Amino acid sequence: MRIKTWEDYEKAYARSVNDPEGFWGDIAGEFVWRKKWNTALQWNFDEPKIEWFKGAKLNITENCLDRHLSTRGNKLALIWEPNEPKEKFIRLTYRELLEKVCQFANVLKKNGAKKGDRICIYMPMVPELEIAVLACARIGAVHSVIFAGFSANAIADRVNDAQASMILTSDGLYRGNKEIPVKRVVDEALEHCTSVKKVIVVERTQWAVHMEPGRDVWYHDEVATVDKVCPAEEMDAEDMLFILYTSGSTGKPKGVVHTCGGYMVYTAYTFQNVFQVEESDVFWCTADVGWVTGHSYIVYGPLLSGATTVMFEGVPTYPSPGRFWQVIDKYGVNQFYTAPTAIRSLMAMGEDHVLAYSLDSLKLLGSVGEPINEEAWQWYNIHVGKERCPIVDTWWQTETGGIMISALGNTGPIKPAHAGYPLPGVQPVLLDNEGKEIEGNDVEGYLCIKFPWPSMIRTTYGDHERCRQTYFANYKGYYFTGDGARRDKDGMYRIIGRVDDVINVSGHRFGTAEIENAINANDHVVESAVVGYPHDIKGQGIYAYVITKDQGAKEDILRAEIVETIVEQIGRIAKPDKIQFVPGLPKTRSGKIMRRILRKIAEGDTSNLGDTTTLLDPDVVDVIKNGYIKD
Ligand code: WTA
Repeated sequence: MRIKTWEDYEKAYARSVNDPEGFWGDIAGEFVWRKKWNTALQWNFDEPKIEWFKGAKLNITENCLDRHLSTRGNKLALIWEPNEPKEKFIRLTYRELLEKVCQFANVLKKNGAKKGDRICIYMPMVPELEIAVLACARIGAVHSVIFAGFSANAIADRVNDAQASMILTSDGLYRGNKEIPVKRVVDEALEHCTSVKKVIVVERTQWAVHMEPGRDVWYHDEVATVDKVCPAEEMDAEDMLFILYTSGSTGKPKGVVHTCGGYMVYTAYTFQNVFQVEESDVFWCTADVGWVTGHSYIVYGPLLSGATTVMFEGVPTYPSPGRFWQVIDKYGVNQFYTAPTAIRSLMAMGEDHVLAYSLDSLKLLGSVGEPINEEAWQWYNIHVGKERCPIVDTWWQTETGGIMISALGNTGPIKPAHAGYPLPGVQPVLLDNEGKEIEGNDVEGYLCIKFPWPSMIRTTYGDHERCRQTYFANYKGYYFTGDGARRDKDGMYRIIGRVDDVINVSGHRFGTAEIENAINANDHVVESAVVGYPHDIKGQGIYAYVITKDQGAKEDILRAEIVETIVEQIGRIAKPDKIQFVPGLPKTRSGKIMRRILRKIAEGDTSNLGDTTTLLDPDVVDVIKNGYIKD
């Protein structure tokens, strides 16, 4: 399964294209199945229907945990680093982790959870988060993790869409110098949810919280009453493993559905080959388990591979901008996987913080979530990797489940700011406006994938048609990523960015429509239009153009109110960087907002706005131009 050289890669890639079922079948054969599959793959991209290993039976947690006990029972599975450097860290071996997962699973069962139930998890980055995720998988419940930075409204939307019967949460959370009353946010959300029957609360901060009689129970009370053994539920390879909500260009966030078998095979395969983790290595992915990166490369990929991972509760700049580097030295981290936005923000604080640490243990660096600009890449390479660690720039999506385009350790060529070549099993193409494949190199187009891979999205929860429309209808016969890309003269891919109305802020995806809806919920607002603009640290910033009812009212107060509305509707992470009040928006005669013009103005580039004569009210463009908010 392990690719060690460029020749290995070429051989694996060729086989994955010529004999995909044989290729993935062999890799799947390395896992524990209660029953094998008859056909590895059945698919069409029209419905779409994608089935990998259907009919085969397994439980992913047996592969993550039980399977390792004979050889790795006493090996560390998890090292947990708390927000406060002085607080005691926690280490769990594979044996201990299994026991805790079984206990949590028994608590779920005791509280009425069963196979197929949807369970939402809204928790800080504490070991119980990983344990809770695995406990759901143990009993065949479908987990839906909600990043613990979303607002009560955002939780309610997700809980209601999934019709979740339970929420697993904590009393509060520490993140950097912030303290968030997590349970209170959940209580507020639950005022709008009728499906939730039980809330299980993990103690983290020991704050006094409201406990609703009959609904809310403390985890520590429950766990004292249950057994340490819990047999794993038998699942079909195509049974749902989890739902993860993500933003698209229209409407509310959609629940991306991943299934047990294919997701298992692909996350393990990609983890092992991209990061080239050796048996005694320590791997650290700094993402939150609330995002797909945390699902695939904190929880499943590493555990399926028997690796040791670090999980970090805090933020890169607390208590100082040296925190990441201090933690790397503390645990001897060998592979370090983070986001460009973190690198850029640390870069802006100067080299001294990183030069104070040895970082000798590092063998490989990774990047994920957004394009990494060349300057940040070089800083990462020189100051963190000391020019001896390959950098894997991993392109993928919530919908793809695992890494799609990336270097595999140092087995092949690496170029700054280029994701590189597709992984075995991944068949990317670039399409033109007509949906025709663009052949050859040194070309640019819409990035699509033309053949299924095991961990691809199966559906959007409760609305299969939306899945078809969003990903399979733009270009018939292809999965459309929403990204534009360039294939350079050597055939390496460079991701340019989203080509739809999705903005990527610090690696977090938001639909412009989603933020507009939030802004429009404010009583003073008539209409709004949101666009992304280049931002030095966040990659993209959020620029909102807003028409208000009471023009001339105090702008600062209005601005603060609108920010407050967004925080209520979505969460702090979606706060706009700039809000410009405008008398109107540039619209075509048919009423469509000309975002192209708004984007240009937000970029500070008003030299060439193109033809504006077809607009309903061409003069409004000048007014907007004059009111442009600089940094
Ligand atoms: C962007 C995160 C350039 C891209 C795993 C994609 C990237 C979206 C990269 C998915 C990368 C992710 N280079 N762009 N290495 N990785 N993206 O669903 O626009 O949170 O479509 O998944 O992030 O974001 P998501």
